[in-house]
Order: sequence, then C-alpha cells, then structure tokens
Amino acid sequence: MDMKHFLNTADWSRDALQAMIDDARAMKSARFGDDLKNKTVALLFLNNSLRTRTSFDVGAQELGGHAVVLSPSGGMWPLEFEDGVVMDGDAEEHVKEAAKVLSRYCDMIGIRAFPKFLDWQEDRKDKILNAFAKYADVPVINMETITHPCQEMAHVMALQEHFEKAGRGGLDGKKFVLTWTYHPKPLNTAVANSALMIAAKFGMKPTLLCPTEDFVLDDRYVEQACKDAGANGHGVTITHEIKEAYEDADVVYAKSWGAIPFFGNWEPEKGIRDRFKNFIVDENKMALTNDALVSHCLPMRRNVKMTDAVFDSPNCIAYDEAENRLHVQKAIMKALVG
Ligand code: CP
Repeated sequence: MDMKHFLNTADWSRDALQAMIDDARAMKSARFGDDLKNKTVALLFLNNSLRTRTSFDVGAQELGGHAVVLSPSGGMWPLEFEDGVVMDGDAEEHVKEAAKVLSRYCDMIGIRAFPKFLDWQEDRKDKILNAFAKYADVPVINMETITHPCQEMAHVMALQEHFEKAGRGGLDGKKFVLTWTYHPKPLNTAVANSALMIAAKFGMKPTLLCPTEDFVLDDRYVEQACKDAGANGHGVTITHEIKEAYEDADVVYAKSWGAIPFFGNWEPEKGIRDRFKNFIVDENKMALTNDALVSHCLPMRRNVKMTDAVFDSPNCIAYDEAENRLHVQKAIMKALVG
C-alpha cells in the first residue's frame, strides 16, 4: 500500500508543505467540497483539546467526510503501547489491535498523545504516535505529541497571509524569535520544537530566547533547525538576552515549556521558572522589533505569557493561526487520502 503519514514536517519537503498551504488558502475562500466524501477519520485524544478536536471534525464535514472522536476517558478501552508486555495492568487492548481495527473502519487516524512528563528519554521516543504509524494500515496524523506539525502549518500560513497583505514579501530572511514565557506549570515542548523547525525550513532566521541553558530544547529539534537553516544560508541563534532577541525581529512566537533536565523532578525547575516572569511578551519588548507579527498557538494565559495590549493589537495573528488549523488540516487530509 502506497501510504504516507503526517507525523512531522521534517519528513516532508518544503515544496510539499507549501502545496498543502496553497491548497488550504484556496479552501479558505471556497470552504466546502467533496474531497473527503465517504472518508472517515478517527481522532484519538489522550489529552484535552478545544481547537484540534473542533477543527478536524468540522474540516472533515466541510469536505463531505466524517470524524469519530475517541478518548480513553470517554468510553474507549485503555490501551497498551509497549511490545511484549504481560497485559495484567489497566490496559485492556494493545495498540496493535486498536490500530488494525480502526484501519478497517476509517481512512485516517489522528493521534494526540502528550508526554507523560516523568522521563524525557522515554517521552522523546514518541511511542504512541509511532506505534499507530507502525501498526495502522491507513495514514496517521500527529495532532500533537512531542511536536505539533498541524500548528506549524497554520502558523506559516498565517505569516504568509499577513506579510503578503502588508507588502512585506515572503518568509525568507525574516528574523523569527521563539520566546519562552513564564507559566505556572511545566508545559509540553511540542509547539516550541515545531516552531523552531518550521521557521528554519521556511527560510527564516530562527532565534531561540529562553531564560537559562536548562530551557534549551532537545538537540534533535535544534539540530534539525540548524540543518534546515543552514541549507537556507542561515544559522540558529540561542540567547538568554531579551533585548538582543527582540531587536529587529519580524516574528515573535510565544510559548512556555518545561526544562528538559528537570523532567520528572519538577520542584527545583519551579524555583527557576518563577524567577523569569519578566519573559512575558509586552509592549516594551515589541517596541524593539521590526513591527513584528506576534502569535501563540493557544490556549494562552493572558497577562502571564502575553499582555492584553499585545495580544489584542493588530500585530497579533493568533486568531488567524487558530482559524488556519481548519483549512490546513483539510489540505493535509486531502493530501493523505483525498
Ligand atoms: N493549539 C492547539 O492545539 O489547541 P488545542 O489544545 O485546544 O487543540
């Protein structure tokens, strides 16, 4: 079976991703079609969601298809993801059977499975997503695990729309700042990993701003970004200096994440993160930029990660990015099975 999954944008060429974004932009103008007629997507949510769940379900319907939302807390059997284990714990069903059976009913399977936040060396294997990709007989879509490729696509689409509208050209050569922000809890690094990689892939000059060395992202994603930025003639800057990062930025992307060296031992990490509430995206920092577009994947704690004044300013494209999840996921589903 000639089948391709949508697990990470690193698996796809920039041209292939751009083709999906172009298709998404066309569908933003003409929303309804029959490209997914008689197609069904199973959406498996092991974690909460507002945008992803709604946009995939609505997107499938708008193209004549159907979505089935599954959640272990909502009636599904608890699943086992390890191979070769004696299943005498809580899990009633192995992913092998779940993936194979869902493949008999559905044409695609979407997976949301966040890290367990106990051991990064385990979480970085992305076992649940990879198990579905291994055992399913239909394309699998990453709806956020340790990366969030659908969010990346919606972000790039929103940047292209806004820079074009403002007569500021394409993304190549734009300074892209991914800034860590304070949050009371250690969050997933998925969106941060994704933001860094997609900025590099689409020709921007990525800067990673974080309070200390502890908050630098996993080497896998920094190295992928360095590779793609290098191919476009750029480097990746990692800095802990707010002013240096914001100066002349064309894009500011805000996200909070937990420091990887403290995975499973979060108490000392809290002591560090609590010292850096000043990383909030505010008007003074934005004044240092080149009239930068600013965004966040949402959900976002206002006046913790970003001030109301910045979030509600014309430079903030977060609502467009959120809307674009709908359009770009339709394009992804079409590209996989349409
Ligand atoms: N950005 C995003 O994935 O939103 P949800 O967690 O609400 O799906």
